[in-house]
Amino acid sequence: MTLAADLLDIAARIARQAGDLAARRRREGLEIATKSVAADIVTAADREVEAFVRAELERERPEDGFFGEESTAQESRSGITWVVDPIDGTVNYAYGIPAWAVSIAAVEGSADPATWSAVAGVVYNPVSGEMFRASRGGGAWLGDERLSVTSEVGPAGGLIATGFGYDPATHAPTLERLARVMPIARDIRRIGAASLDLASVAAGRMDAYYEKGTHPWDHAAGVLLVEEAGGTVGGAPGGRPGKEMVIAAGPGFYGRLAKLLEPEL
Ligand code: IPD
Repeated sequence: MTLAADLLDIAARIARQAGDLAARRRREGLEIATKSVAADIVTAADREVEAFVRAELERERPEDGFFGEESTAQESRSGITWVVDPIDGTVNYAYGIPAWAVSIAAVEGSADPATWSAVAGVVYNPVSGEMFRASRGGGAWLGDERLSVTSEVGPAGGLIATGFGYDPATHAPTLERLARVMPIARDIRRIGAASLDLASVAAGRMDAYYEKGTHPWDHAAGVLLVEEAGGTVGGAPGGRPGKEMVIAAGPGFYGRLAKLLEPEL
């Protein structure tokens, strides 16, 4: 088995267990706390699930680094770092909307999306039971189905997913950006989980996704899914996806979307 296949197996097994744990905790009742701003929340389950994922990874691969949403980072001694969002779509999780996911990626290089190279990644939605998975050079998959991005966007425009940051100070520029994109959109989707938006682009359920202000754990696995499904992913002009911007689409539509997002970047 190759390293990528091995890492993918580990990620999928742990994501499934972690997602099932989160779903169980949701049924038992929620404990919610506030993070950066009032709308930015964390549940006790986010922290417990991240601790579970971290402990399992440490047991399987003690030399690897760890970079997660809810705990301190651990530097890698093997060259591999795990980038983990235990519950992406926390607000959906809290409200009982079935669009949240466990996102786990194994990356090579430093723990920085500007330079790392993702080797394997999974996005698991425990409510639908869908496990999206990808490994570098091995394609993107949902069950037995090999995923590919949409190849063409017709005159009606693209179905475009995006997200809004929690900080109210970002809302006005977010809406201006949306207004610039609308002329090439047949419609917009704001599902509330960046990892699932990216998985949807990989699966051809959405033509594109863009968002400013996401964290590395929101997009580490999803970006690999889109790339392995034949899509194009970028950030600020000429750059990798990052806090400044994440743009993901089929190669034909990518340029049109990126051009409209460029003026402010
Ligand atoms: C958030 C979700 C949301 C996106 C935000 C993320 P969280 O992650 O992915 O869709 O718009 O930028 O922070 O807080 O639910 O893990």
